[in-house]
Amino acid sequence: MKIGIVGIGALGSLWATKLQQDGHDVLAITRDHSQRSISISLDQQAKFEIPANDLTQLSTCQAIIITVKSTQVKQAIEPLFTYLPTKIPLIFLHNGMGALDQLSEQWNQHPLFLATTTQAAFKPNSQQVKHTGIGQTFIGAYRETEKLTAQLDSIIQELDSALPKVMWHNHIQSALWKKLAINCVINPMTAIYQCKNGELLQSQYQTEVKSLINECHQVMQAVGQNQSLNDLSDRIKQVMIATSDNFSSMHQDIHHKRPTEIEFITGFLLKQAQRYAIDMPNHQRLFKKIKQLEK
Ligand code: PAF
Repeated sequence: MKIGIVGIGALGSLWATKLQQDGHDVLAITRDHSQRSISISLDQQAKFEIPANDLTQLSTCQAIIITVKSTQVKQAIEPLFTYLPTKIPLIFLHNGMGALDQLSEQWNQHPLFLATTTQAAFKPNSQQVKHTGIGQTFIGAYRETEKLTAQLDSIIQELDSALPKVMWHNHIQSALWKKLAINCVINPMTAIYQCKNGELLQSQYQTEVKSLINECHQVMQAVGQNQSLNDLSDRIKQVMIATSDNFSSMHQDIHHKRPTEIEFITGFLLKQAQRYAIDMPNHQRLFKKIKQLEK
């Protein structure tokens, strides 16, 4: 297959190297379109040389995976519009929700898919990526009109072979809401308290963690995401344990003085809460604090 990867951050680099290792042609699209190739090593392996930014090649790709952050989706994808025939599936993989709702109407003809993953990667520098956690990736439809076609099914099989497990999800919104709840608790708290994910399991954070999960659960129920409060709390705790030694992406963004994804994480949750007049004092407070830290 020929696959385009838009965004060569940690997850984009992981996908690019794993797909090339599995024998596929990869085309990297980076922020700087004048860059003609990228050179990157995966874990302890030799370097992969990946062609980059020949936008005319986009039309020959079987699928494009967009791994830029939710805050960069619009600016990364809009300039590619004229190069992308409407038959190519576009798979978006990022934290948070609502980023695709910002795309201009011109994208209505394109098959758009959303993905969520528990794979973890870390990019210590621009030439190296480390696969730090083995997980699962789910892909599902952005709109109800998008179905699992035979073409997409075979793409998913190839993706699964390169970086397992990759699976189709009939209700991707529910997987995205669960991930959103995880991010709404772990990301702002670790960024504000400057701690690793696992430190949130300490007793001093429990009252706050509980209130955040409660508020989030109320909104999930209001939007029709029926998951028990216990299951949601257990899931969030499991992620804190599984990623205990990691610094969350928001912690890293604040640390490196980059914009965070707060608008598409807590911001999205607060917008939904507003629709149903649900009081969210704890998430409001974290949202404000992250906005201050961003400044
Ligand atoms: O954004 C992140 O860092 C990750 O989604 C998660 C799951 C919180 C683990 O660090």
